[in-house]
Amino acid sequence: MDFLLANTPIETLETECLIVAVFENEQLSPAAKTLDSLTDSIISKMLQRGDIKGKVADTLLINYLPNKSIQRALLVGLGDADKLSAKKFRRAVASAANTLKTTQIGSAVCCLTEENVIKQNISWNARQIVEAFDAPFYQFNDCKSKAADKFSLAQLSLHSVTETDAVQTGLNQGLAIAQGVSLAKHVSDLPGNICTPTYLAEQAVKIAEQHPNVTAEILEEADMQKLGMGSFLSVSRGSRQPAKLITLEYKGADAATQPIVFVGKGLTFDAGGISLKPGAGMDEMKYDMCGSAAVLGTLQAAAELQLPLNIVGIIPSSENMPDGDANKPGDIVTSMAGLTIEILNTDAEGRLILCDALTYAKKYNPDVVIDLATLTGACLVALGRVPSGLLGNDDTLCNDLQSASETALDSVWRLPLWDEYQDQLKSNFADIANIGGRDAGTITAACFLSRFTKDYQWAHLDIAGTAWKSGEAKGATGRPVPLLVQYLLNRAA
Ligand code: BES
Ligand code: MN
Ligand code: ZN
Repeated sequence: MDFLLANTPIETLETECLIVAVFENEQLSPAAKTLDSLTDSIISKMLQRGDIKGKVADTLLINYLPNKSIQRALLVGLGDADKLSAKKFRRAVASAANTLKTTQIGSAVCCLTEENVIKQNISWNARQIVEAFDAPFYQFNDCKSKAADKFSLAQLSLHSVTETDAVQTGLNQGLAIAQGVSLAKHVSDLPGNICTPTYLAEQAVKIAEQHPNVTAEILEEADMQKLGMGSFLSVSRGSRQPAKLITLEYKGADAATQPIVFVGKGLTFDAGGISLKPGAGMDEMKYDMCGSAAVLGTLQAAAELQLPLNIVGIIPSSENMPDGDANKPGDIVTSMAGLTIEILNTDAEGRLILCDALTYAKKYNPDVVIDLATLTGACLVALGRVPSGLLGNDDTLCNDLQSASETALDSVWRLPLWDEYQDQLKSNFADIANIGGRDAGTITAACFLSRFTKDYQWAHLDIAGTAWKSGEAKGATGRPVPLLVQYLLNRAA
């Protein structure tokens, strides 16, 4: 969808559909009032008649107006005008987008840009409108033999007569985020036989080719062997697809500026290995690369916005398969950091590839390192599918992520990474075991990673519950791209 700015006053505006807010108790937003005065009070009459109550996310499409230049109106409920929270605003905008999705309307002008949202500014409104309108129009059609029906809505203009610069800024940010989310969803939704480690490497190279200050580097298994990545390589041994260590580097600041480093788990299929997963729902383990997809989406967004930061994305990518040469329970491997690991469950493979990537990250002299991983089913048990799990060794970094998540409406919830949990990783035969037993699985997985991140400020996002949806609406969400781009925007400000 194309997003534009509309700065023409409503009195002289021409559009197929004007999107305006109404509130509870028959209150009209300023834009709705203006439209009301141009249309024989149609809007206030409909409110009086009770056709729309004005509750949050109520919508009413008025398909004909006695006004030649504004052909239709979409009324959107925002609840109580004084209590318009960020979440309610987002819900209402999403509802407007979903209503327009089912119509023949090709372009619309959105006046929700101008509403007052608690604690937010007009750039935030613009950013959220673009994100919320883009998301429902995402389709995954690559593998269907018949072309899917196209949606009519192709253009949305954000209305503001006076604050055009702030709206344009938010619009550009929203577009970069929406495109990053879309990219992440697309590579995640691709099946495991198409989206292999080699495919992910090709996508990184493509992003580098499209942006002058982004470079990609792909390490092969032989290179990783030389670096001593015995833990990572042990996971890929059971797969016929060669593992890749993908690095994307974006340079938006001077060479002396320490980079923000993202590390994304890129398991393009996790069958569990010899500790084979049960069959039901195993197809969803194609999504075990959603962390890496978010790294690609975030780096693309940062490059589109030309943020004044240095950013590195590191993606260890592999499959985890059962095979005669695969890891066996009890095997002991040596990580790049020199720590030996007893593999008590081959299905706890994410940490085995991440630990070597986290050691490798030191080479970039990072300011902070943030890893993103569909790491534990236990995260779903603890937090469900609402927030991503957040753990880390630095309060400032964790607080920064927490606050970015609130702005981006891409929530996280912090779990403790206390020393008391470290004991669960004791091994009789190696330095550390790769599992910590039944209790606190998300925390002990992070404890494992923490053994490899002592030299820098580090945070870990467990996105097992948030990176995709199951059931009828099965599909990737593109999370946590909005959170990460917001974090970068905050760092750049
Ligand atoms: N990729 C999975 C985690 C996962 C499972 C994410 C289900 C989302 C939904 C990970 O590699 C894994 O298998 N973890 C194990 C760890 C256990 C063996 C300690 C798990 O969560 O069961
Ligand atoms: Mn696994
Ligand atoms: Zn996994």
